[in-house]
Amino acid sequence: MICLGIETTAHTFGASVVDDGASKGDKKIDRSKVRILSNVKDSYTTEAGGMIPKDAAEHHVAVCGRVIQEALDKAGVRMRKVDIVSFSQGPGLGHCLRIGAMAARLLAAKHNLPLVGVNHCIAHLEIGRLVCDAHDPVLLYVSGANTQVIAFDGGRYRIFGETLDIGVGNFLDCFARCLGLGFPGGPKIYELALKGKNYIKLPYVVKGMDVSFGGLLTNLKQKIESGSSHEDLAFSVQETVFAMLLEVSERALAHCNKGELLLGGGVACNKRLVEMAKRMCEARGASCFVPEPEFLLDNAAMIAWNGLLVFRAGETIRIEDSIIRPYWRTDEVNSKLSKACLAAKARPYA
Ligand code: ATP
Ligand code: FE2
Repeated sequence: MICLGIETTAHTFGASVVDDGASKGDKKIDRSKVRILSNVKDSYTTEAGGMIPKDAAEHHVAVCGRVIQEALDKAGVRMRKVDIVSFSQGPGLGHCLRIGAMAARLLAAKHNLPLVGVNHCIAHLEIGRLVCDAHDPVLLYVSGANTQVIAFDGGRYRIFGETLDIGVGNFLDCFARCLGLGFPGGPKIYELALKGKNYIKLPYVVKGMDVSFGGLLTNLKQKIESGSSHEDLAFSVQETVFAMLLEVSERALAHCNKGELLLGGGVACNKRLVEMAKRMCEARGASCFVPEPEFLLDNAAMIAWNGLLVFRAGETIRIEDSIIRPYWRTDEVNSKLSKACLAAKARPYA
């Protein structure tokens, strides 16, 4: 079956066509036959950094038709060959989610196709499993807005740890802005950290299984004002923050008795985080999986792929019920949707 997926949780408008290589009546999907036929995106950017949701939504309206057409053209698929339309239903910015939902509803209605709403966080995990051949991992999901440690346990996806305030990506972007670096800050902090030599002690905030970055940001602002070396601060920030994230991830691995760590989200493009994650996994005999950046950052392939899984679990939504869910938590995904993930657990998907 072929699914057209649409992603619009934040600054990226994405469209993708994925073929699961199985026919409608098939109960099984053979993972080796799944094909990502296209994965197109256009992201809203600003010179100054930061994002006004209303402007991002206007960007999405402007590029919507072109990006969807490009995804179909690249895939060599006409709309009448598409079997399912899926979209990011949440979590995310309401202004942005609404545009993707609207486009998906229109296409589903016009072509009389089933509509599937996808949880964006779970989609990050499922695409990682698909492209990395991970079986049953703990996901360290580190993006701009989200920071969560997620794993499948007791019949559904659960959050084992998360940020108590801002996402680690937003934290790095704010820190970069304080240093006068542009947006996105993550890659710039990484480059600056390579020149750092001395570790400056910073607050290490792990509370139970959760992390927090607000106090650390305040502390950094004070250190910048008092003249600490920017290079040393960047180096120390990475060492501190990534250690916090990996401490929680390691405890989730131990608690769930799982042997695979999967990274997801834009911050996982950071080579130092990957290096530290690999070292932690090596020390405990676990495998570490890191998808290509195309699948770490927000993308529509993950929405199309998860749309297929959810459809096969029998969970479609009526257009009148397809309201966006800006605060949809990973652990709120209902048991029927979780079943889709459960169904996808065996290798190949059975
Ligand atoms: P979500 O809706 O999942 O929260 P998002 O749009 O907020 O998505 P992503 O696109 O997954 O986030 O990631 C954006 C973050 O990743 C930014 O904070 C950015 O600084 C960071 N980032 C991007 N590339 C790199 C890199 N090479 N190294 C470090 N951080 C990076
Ligand atoms: Fe994301």
